[in-house]
Amino acid sequence: MRLEFVENGPIRLEGKRFRIRLGEKEEVRERPRISLCRCGASANKPFCDGTHKQVGFQAPGGVLEVEGD
Ligand code: FES
Repeated sequence: MRLEFVENGPIRLEGKRFRIRLGEKEEVRERPRISLCRCGASANKPFCDGTHKQVGFQAPGGVLEVEGD
């Protein structure tokens, strides 16, 4: 698995199918990439809705790669 920390922005995950469970709610999204909020200001958590630009969120970019299962 590869996570990209976008400079001053969200965490992007690449894949094919994402199953997201939040409390009792479960959602499946089939898409090549999702962006997760890390600024805390999104109105659509856990997803990034672009609000990080309005709130001036600042954080370095980077990559986290997880090897194995
Ligand atoms: S990182 Fe984009 S809205 Fe929070």
